Amino acid sequence: MHHKLRTGIFKALELLPRKFGDELYHQLQRINEKSIQEEYNFQKSTILRFAEILNSTNISFSQRRVVEIGSGWLPILPYELIFSYQASEVLTFDINQHYFANRIADFNKFYKHQFNVTLTSTLPKEVKYFPRTNILDSAIHSGTVGAMVTRNVLEHISPDDLYSIHQQANSYLKDDGFIIHQISPSDHRAYSDQSLSLWDFLRYSQREWDRIQTRFDYHNRWRLPQYIEMFKACGFEIVFLSYKSAKKGQRLPAKIHADFEKYTTEEYTAGSIIVILKLKQK
Ligand SMILES: C[S@@+](CC[C@H](N)C(=O)[O-])C[C@H]1O[C@@H](n2cnc3c(N)ncnc32)[C@H](O)[C@@H]1O
Repeated sequence: MHHKLRTGIFKALELLPRKFGDELYHQLQRINEKSIQEEYNFQKSTILRFAEILNSTNISFSQRRVVEIGSGWLPILPYELIFSYQASEVLTFDINQHYFANRIADFNKFYKHQFNVTLTSTLPKEVKYFPRTNILDSAIHSGTVGAMVTRNVLEHISPDDLYSIHQQANSYLKDDGFIIHQISPSDHRAYSDQSLSLWDFLRYSQREWDRIQTRFDYHNRWRLPQYIEMFKACGFEIVFLSYKSAKKGQRLPAKIHADFEKYTTEEYTAGSIIVILKLKQK
């Protein structure tokens, strides 16, 4: 879909009363919805990569109470953490509500059949879902969480909240706790409109970008060095970092805005970021 049409649709949805706009947004999402098997395979590749990296750094989810931010549409990551990686409990937070009873029941049928686990038609007791909840409004007791995880979510969170979320995690994580994030800093409009480069949105000033984006496709446009600076400022050390920058010959934007000129091409094009954080020793 051409990015201007996509933006036009989101702008129109934003004009509607919030509940109605959200409802229509969900209906539109359903048109492009992948099958449960396809969505599972897509997310499983990230989960396997997380497991491989954690294994190489001698860290595991086993017996840990885990916080996930950005639950999304299906509880794939929570189920995998519980049933394949032996996490004790997953608390999953989302500022929206995308899990629906019929879809969870279908997903449970799929998961039960594939993995021979016991599930009813609802979420298992080890998965606690907090829809329409900003984790910053939730009291999580100090030192009670073993791990925090996100997949393709941080880029959708405002800079102020990113700092607050990591300061909050610094308090609720146990001393041996860890954070693992997958971050996708590229221009998501390019996924459905091949005429755009993956970094097209970097040509705009913040003001211009704020006129284009909506609450349905908010993207903070942070570059890798900004994430690194924030993690460190919130008291974390980076124990693992991987990312993919533009390959030779890959199309770059014709111009980028002055705000991003201080970054090298490797830095400003860094995508598919995976990072593991641990609390800095005090
Ligand atoms: C691109 S989806 C990713 C969902 C899922 N993690 C996945 O990998 O499929 C981003 C999700 O993050 C949620 N989200 C955005 N900002 C958030 C915030 N500040 N706190 C919690 N969830 C948020 C959105 O509602 C959406 O469900």
